[in-house]
Amino acid sequence: MLNEQISKEFHSAYLYLDMANYYYDHNLNGFGNWFDVQTKEENAHAMFFIEYLRNNGIAVKLETIPAPTFEFKNFKEPLTAAFEHEQFITNSIHDIYAEAYSIKDFRTMQFLDWFVKEQAEEEQSADDLCKRFDLFGADPKGLYLLDNELGGRVFTEPTMTL
Ligand code: FEO
Repeated sequence: MLNEQISKEFHSAYLYLDMANYYYDHNLNGFGNWFDVQTKEENAHAMFFIEYLRNNGIAVKLETIPAPTFEFKNFKEPLTAAFEHEQFITNSIHDIYAEAYSIKDFRTMQFLDWFVKEQAEEEQSADDLCKRFDLFGADPKGLYLLDNELGGRVFTEPTMTL
């Protein structure tokens, strides 16, 4: 399950990169930047799982990452898709946690604690963006200001003690 999660995290990065490309294509570079930062975070998440397996002597098995198949019809759709994807990832983390609990793998539970907290933040920020788009996105000036704000998002390398 931990191996599979590596692919899910890289797949998340791939999906967010596709969303970033969509916004850059439509000159919403701030939204593009927001998703570029999201992409970098997902790559960092995948590396945490890889490092955890390496540190515990478990062979890392990389899988094929499926290509994104989105065909967005409006600027809101990627935001909704991102929120739904984060919910999917949360469920996936919880499934691993439940399995770790059932076999008394306390070390993995401790490792996953970081992700349980991170997923709450990830869902909240994606949901927040959806709601703010609903408030301001229909108005061109509102969309312009929101895009400007999202352009200011800076990537901070996540840290975890492994
Ligand atoms: Fe790695 Fe956005 O969850």
